[in-house]
Amino acid sequence: MKKAILGVSAFYHDSAAAIIVDGKVIAAAQEERFTRKKHDSSFPINACRYVLQEAGLNYKDLAAVAFYEKPFLKFERLLETYHAFAPSGFVSFASAMLAWIKEKLFMKRMLREQLAGLGDAEIPTYFPEHHLSHAASAFYPSPFNEAAIVTIDGVGEWATTTIGRGRGKDIEILEELHFPHSIGLLYSAFTFYTGFAVNSGEYKLMGLAPYGNPDSGRTAEYKTKIETELVDVRNDGSVVLNMEYFDYATGLKMANEAKWEKLFGIPRRKPESEISQAYMDMALAIQQVTEESVLRLAKAARELTGCKYMVMAGGVALNCVANGKIFDATPFEQVYVHPAAGDAGLAVGAAYYIWHQILGKPRSFAMNHAYWGPAYSPEEIRSAIQASTVSQGGYTIAELPEEELLRRTAAIIADGKILGWYQGRAEWGPRALGNRSIVADPRRPEMKEILNRRIKHREIFRPFAPSILAEKTGEWFDKSHPSPFMSLAYSVLPEKRDKIPAPTHVDGTGRLQTVTREANPRYYALISEFERQTGVPVVLNTSFNDNEPIVCRPEEALDCFLRTQMDALVLGNMLITRP
Ligand SMILES: [Fe+2]
Repeated sequence: MKKAILGVSAFYHDSAAAIIVDGKVIAAAQEERFTRKKHDSSFPINACRYVLQEAGLNYKDLAAVAFYEKPFLKFERLLETYHAFAPSGFVSFASAMLAWIKEKLFMKRMLREQLAGLGDAEIPTYFPEHHLSHAASAFYPSPFNEAAIVTIDGVGEWATTTIGRGRGKDIEILEELHFPHSIGLLYSAFTFYTGFAVNSGEYKLMGLAPYGNPDSGRTAEYKTKIETELVDVRNDGSVVLNMEYFDYATGLKMANEAKWEKLFGIPRRKPESEISQAYMDMALAIQQVTEESVLRLAKAARELTGCKYMVMAGGVALNCVANGKIFDATPFEQVYVHPAAGDAGLAVGAAYYIWHQILGKPRSFAMNHAYWGPAYSPEEIRSAIQASTVSQGGYTIAELPEEELLRRTAAIIADGKILGWYQGRAEWGPRALGNRSIVADPRRPEMKEILNRRIKHREIFRPFAPSILAEKTGEWFDKSHPSPFMSLAYSVLPEKRDKIPAPTHVDGTGRLQTVTREANPRYYALISEFERQTGVPVVLNTSFNDNEPIVCRPEEALDCFLRTQMDALVLGNMLITRP
């Protein structure tokens, strides 16, 4: 009898569910893709139903349910934090506690109630710790039998950063940094102060950093102030924060604004207001400090474990710019970052923790691609098209054999048109990797602005990613280690920068996706065809959405296509073009 484990991440942000059957991932998806609520944190009932259906199982067939953290340890942290910082935090603490008591103390009961919606059965439920789940998500699906494990995020129960070693089915945590000292929360405090939303705007802050002036005295001054006043980055990468500047331990805000304003001489930027050079310099300064911490952690992980490979997870592991530099700072030969490195990925991590640690099973799986979400059949795609206004005239709709589809599609991209590209199973994790992507010509510098303004309706500084045929990586970038999940940024070779200006960021780097035929044959074929027509083995890839969760169903793809006035849309084998 096969053993299936349902992993659940919920109630904080980016809820998700995953199912592993006999140690192999069958499906994994974030709740936001179904409910269309960005970063949806509610119980992932839709994602649970989907992964069970994909596995062909009912709830009662499950061997176990794994929830991504220990509710009572987290409760203990809140209580102890209160004692440490009382009385200054009493008011806000009381309101935080009320919310917490309401929602989280009864998490087990809530979880049981929610799970009852999936079926009537008593399934053993486990609560592995947050950072162990991160570590499990990084190591178990990696292709390595042995690796150093680094997890870095805001905070789970107590831990904010860990270094460990994975060997076969075993994970050993060697070092652990505890709340309130946290590189993730430090980065989030800057996300807050630069006027972005905490827990989702961190990406914007990272995208803004290269616009900071690396040669300006102000950037250097900010960095010095961060390192002398806010944080001590130790040699091993661990950090000690000066809690006088931070309010997250006691309040509901990240930073003490009055103190920050006095220190940096600029107030917190109002959300949505114009971004002056000072905030760009600040973004660069905190990025540099974060990189220093990540690189020192990587060095420490190498020294502690002596491993050839490193795996990573946790929100800070999404800092691809820092990750890309690990190869310069350490002798690690490969770095594997779980495609859903943030808290969504804990659904996979918690399930694997149970499989290997509680059930004691050996390893038998490597996650070599990220396509673990729902797919829709050609019939479903056809009926979505029929129900859409695209079929009411004015659009050309054709079902094409693969070769012709790829030839025409690559020509559309090369012609400077913007293409919606929708294929197969949806991606697991925050990045679109060629199944729910908007694809454009990387050779045209104007693409950046066209996409940000016309299609994505987002800040003009936001970068775009290059997807490159994996074997060509070294010809275009300064490194060629695989980056299948867009989790590493490398420098574009100076002589190639004007050949792919659109996905090259202002600092000359690109957050690349290396594409192999094995991982995604059709996307690989599309890029190959683009190369045949243009000589460039790279396309610009951005997620298929417009200020909403990435599209999941074909109806959402059609809707986004119509709303944003893309030029063409491919759904499976169907090509739809505007007149
Ligand atoms: Fe986390």
